[in-house]
Amino acid sequence: MKGKTMTRIYNKSPTIIKNLINERRIPPRLLAHLTLVYEVAKTILAWMDHHYPGVSIDKEAVLFGAVTHDIGKVMVNEEITKPGSTHERQGFELLLNHGIKEHLARFTLTHSQWTTSNTNIDDWMVSLADKIWKGKRVTDLEDLIVNHICRKTNKEKWEVFLNFDDLLQNISKDADKRLAFQTNYHY
Ligand SMILES: [Fe+2]
Repeated sequence: MKGKTMTRIYNKSPTIIKNLINERRIPPRLLAHLTLVYEVAKTILAWMDHHYPGVSIDKEAVLFGAVTHDIGKVMVNEEITKPGSTHERQGFELLLNHGIKEHLARFTLTHSQWTTSNTNIDDWMVSLADKIWKGKRVTDLEDLIVNHICRKTNKEKWEVFLNFDDLLQNISKDADKRLAFQTNYHY
């Protein structure tokens, strides 16, 4: 796999992803997707750090979640191009079988289930990155995050909302480029 972005992701990837790449078990389009979501998650985390340092986030867990959230698609290849949720449980089990602790493996399950009560800001960060990389806006997910920031910082909701909306609009500006980048890789 070529490209600076792909090399970057390889170097930063957890061992399980490195192994899957080395064994050529991870379809290039899936790796491209995980790379994009990882990069976007990094942008969101840096923004959170800059604007709302008082909101505590497990950054390492979020980045791990971003780069592994769809890993179950290694087993369920058809879900790389078509909707489906079989990959979620499969991914969770794959990670557990490779010795990953449940608190890190959970993102394979939670990235599509932000409304369930056992999720927190770390899960929502991964879910958000997995949507906004392609410019997709999800009101209830964004609301959860804005409300959480307000609770933790005592800031006014309108102010946080506008600020957060700016971030999401900025990220969305490159959505077409990211989509083109991802589609460029075969699956
Ligand atoms: Fe995804």
